[in-house]
Amino acid sequence: MYRIAPSILSADFARLGEEVSNVIAAGADLIHFDVMDNHYVPNLTFGAMVCEALKPYATVPIDVHLMVRPVDALIGQFVKAGANIITFHPEASDHVHRSLSLIKDSGCQAGLVLNPATPVYVLEHVLDLLDMVLVMSVNPGFGGQKFIPQSIERIKQVKSLTDQYEAETGKRIAIEVDGGIKADNIASIALAGADTFVAGSAIFANGDYAAAIGAMRQQLERS
Ligand code: DX5
Ligand code: ZN
Repeated sequence: MYRIAPSILSADFARLGEEVSNVIAAGADLIHFDVMDNHYVPNLTFGAMVCEALKPYATVPIDVHLMVRPVDALIGQFVKAGANIITFHPEASDHVHRSLSLIKDSGCQAGLVLNPATPVYVLEHVLDLLDMVLVMSVNPGFGGQKFIPQSIERIKQVKSLTDQYEAETGKRIAIEVDGGIKADNIASIALAGADTFVAGSAIFANGDYAAAIGAMRQQLERS
């Protein structure tokens, strides 16, 4: 039950609709949509209007990764724009429980994003509001960075927490990993406990999206 989520941050911005269609035809399970505000992270991408424009092309769920501060006003905009999953960084919200509740009350799936230095315990008191935890394996802001090896240990910590929660409540929380994922490290990331894999440059830098996604799936099958 593994999902591949291509990040369109590395797609051709002049042809985004076509890129979304092509990467879905190549086997994408989710479209990962990186929202950057040049405030929480030092880069600027796209907002809810672009998400809305891409919605007709997205025949799979849209996974919105908010790298913005403040968070709450944009949640409503992305809900209206057709987001299916919305994740944000706890450091960027003054009231994490309120922001998660806003997402859940809208009917979208909700998740928290852990930066490389963010302690896993921030999840502990909001597990009931989480559908997904997104573990950053690079510092947020740019595609094409190198996977930080210590991320493996952090994924294992998150997995042990979510497994314990599932044993107690029956509710499963997905674990997504984002940054520096390629065919040659995806198996070890899965082994640590991840089930959803964001990949930007590894897919879009390769002209053959189906081959790139296929190579990742082949590695996952072996893991
Ligand atoms: C980084 C973004 C990632 C990024 C991943 O802030 O959240 O989604 O696009 O890109 P790659 O796969 O190239 O590391
Ligand atoms: Zn992302």
